[in-house]
Amino acid sequence: MGNRELLEKSKNLLSNYRQPPLVMVRGQGSRIWDADGREFLDYSGGIAVLSVGHCHPKLADAIAKQAATLMHTSNLFYTDKALLLADQITTRTGFSRVYFANSGTEANEALIKLGRRWHYEHGRKERVEIVSTHQSFHGRTMGAVTLTGQPKYHAGMGPMMGGVVHVKYDDLEAMRGAITDKTAAVILEPIQAEGGILVPSDGYLEGVRKLCDERGALLFFDEVQTGYGRTGKFLGREWSGVVPDACSLAKGIGGGFPLGAIALTEALADGLPVGTHGSTFGGNPLACAAGLAVLEIFDEERLVENAHEVGSFLGAQLAEMAADASLPAAVEARGRGLLRGIRVDAGYDALAVLAAMRELGVLASTAGADVVRLAPALNTTKAEASHVLGVLRTALAQATKKS
Ligand SMILES: Cc1ncc(COP(=O)(O)O)c(C=O)c1O
Repeated sequence: MGNRELLEKSKNLLSNYRQPPLVMVRGQGSRIWDADGREFLDYSGGIAVLSVGHCHPKLADAIAKQAATLMHTSNLFYTDKALLLADQITTRTGFSRVYFANSGTEANEALIKLGRRWHYEHGRKERVEIVSTHQSFHGRTMGAVTLTGQPKYHAGMGPMMGGVVHVKYDDLEAMRGAITDKTAAVILEPIQAEGGILVPSDGYLEGVRKLCDERGALLFFDEVQTGYGRTGKFLGREWSGVVPDACSLAKGIGGGFPLGAIALTEALADGLPVGTHGSTFGGNPLACAAGLAVLEIFDEERLVENAHEVGSFLGAQLAEMAADASLPAAVEARGRGLLRGIRVDAGYDALAVLAAMRELGVLASTAGADVVRLAPALNTTKAEASHVLGVLRTALAQATKKS
């Protein structure tokens, strides 16, 4: 079946996503094909998920083998794959405990519960508030969406979860005013990704760490988008040297297989005692086998290093584009590693730029209202990046001012 015939069935889906009239059927590396056989270079990266590219043979093989060996036990039992993956994650991140979930939003739900319950376990029952930031994105379930500092995700969904305060991102004074003796934890993205790829000023994350320490609050980093090599280091936090008390992980961790996790320090290990949190599917052996294969591929193909190298090239070229007076639609390059974006001038339409890129065979996504985001597979090449930059330049040059 081709795109048209398949799209007739789209009436069966809830129309909660903005989707172009394309039906994807196959992927390989950084390439993806629709049902009419048209090939695209996928620099949306499945919204920063494709850490090892589409259908990496080693990942596909690990999933197939595990599916034929042991797919599910529930958390009534340990499984070899969950134990091995937790060991890998603690070794690579320096944290000492891991809890597995199925997605980023679920990982952040676990952080909310951990933050509150840890203080409760230590006799500080009044510490229930969570400080989050404007423009942040932490997910869509009621707890995670309450943390998310974007009113458009709250509209019509209230009342939100109680006990959450939002302050300006990258503003230490605002943070100083918000952390009180009722604060359980502060949650931050090391780079605000969905909010528009906002890299905070030097010293901001360090300053928040210091405030949390002074006032007895925990510090959580949401590394769902910035983690797993995306910024050219294994965790986004490594750009600052700040060690949070816990972080959430998802997206790239399963290479496309649904998997999420939180990683925490030993000091917090008593925060969620037996029975206080759990998930039927979280950390099932199939997902963890995928997670193990992803890390093997990271090592074999030096993907964190590649994200840094190709990402630096992309960043430098985007900065040139933003400075190019012949491209008035492009105003600012943002990001680190392979989490990159170019801000489109308010007079132009970022979605129209995406559509033009798609016509030219390149897929990207937006971050915030006005940033074209490039978050490709971590094994993308400089040649692919050059091609995408050429297409982006053409799309920006063709962009017409909004009337
Ligand atoms: C920083 C961050 N946190 C949480 C989430 C939610 O993750 P998921 O969609 O896997 O629930 C996202 C998704 O874009 C994200 O970027």
